[in-house]
Amino acid sequence: MPYVTNSGLTVRPLSNALGAEISGIDITGDISQEQVDAIRSIWNQYHIILFRGVKWTPEEQIAFSRRFGPLDPHDATPFSRDEKHKELLVVTNRERNGKPSESRNTGRNWHSDYAYTGQPSAASMLYSVEMPEAGGDTMFCNMAAAYDDLSDKMKDIVGDLHSVYDFSLVAGLAQRTPEYVQEQLRLNPPVAHPTVRVHPDSGTKALYVSERASHFDGMTRAESLPLIEYLCAHATRPENVYRHSWLPGDMVCWDNRTTMHVALADFDPKEPRHMLRTTLQGEKSGYLVPGVLGAA
Ligand SMILES: [Fe+2]
Repeated sequence: MPYVTNSGLTVRPLSNALGAEISGIDITGDISQEQVDAIRSIWNQYHIILFRGVKWTPEEQIAFSRRFGPLDPHDATPFSRDEKHKELLVVTNRERNGKPSESRNTGRNWHSDYAYTGQPSAASMLYSVEMPEAGGDTMFCNMAAAYDDLSDKMKDIVGDLHSVYDFSLVAGLAQRTPEYVQEQLRLNPPVAHPTVRVHPDSGTKALYVSERASHFDGMTRAESLPLIEYLCAHATRPENVYRHSWLPGDMVCWDNRTTMHVALADFDPKEPRHMLRTTLQGEKSGYLVPGVLGAA
């Protein structure tokens, strides 16, 4: 049931697992610090928040996003960055500069944004400009609940592990240009992060592993893969997932510290799907791991 907070925001949970729609506020206008704090509190509780019917300029999206923290300049993925605004990542299947867009197949396996960098993102804020007639959905899962549901023994085990993220495990690289793949691998060498991530605001512990993790540091890939696959399957059980069907004008903000997501190729690629993402910078984390296996 929707409810109204003390600060006058209407909150409608989107699923049992995670996600809430927030209404009763015009985020394109001036918003107070109290409203920012109220939105952040709802966001921390539900991990994903949705605003519908948003119409704004790129500058307004950037200004709203910046209220929640410093924005990432997207140096890890310069090919998909907007030419005028480095704070905007263009997720589109429209041609860019007369060439197929490098982001047309982005996000096709379960992941948390920028886990393959030394500064994984805190959160992503994705605005839908154009959507296909049907499909183009994104699924999200709750990694805090996934951690909580583990046995105490398994919590001890994963608490001791570092997951190694390898850009070559990002889905869809076969459809990218060799120049893109080579440059992305150069910019993003394999990096290890704690497999349990602690949210700096709430102290919530969440699983931090994904289909882009190649192995656990200090273990072979053969030893690691069964556990990586188990943890991903455990985290993405249908009851731990919210599936978002986008409408143009949706602004969905997800916390990359407590969720994973996957963008589904469940739409006609001839129809435009065009979105703009701002990314909240996270804390520096992890360490580089030399000599990792290539693509699986
Ligand atoms: Fe993503």
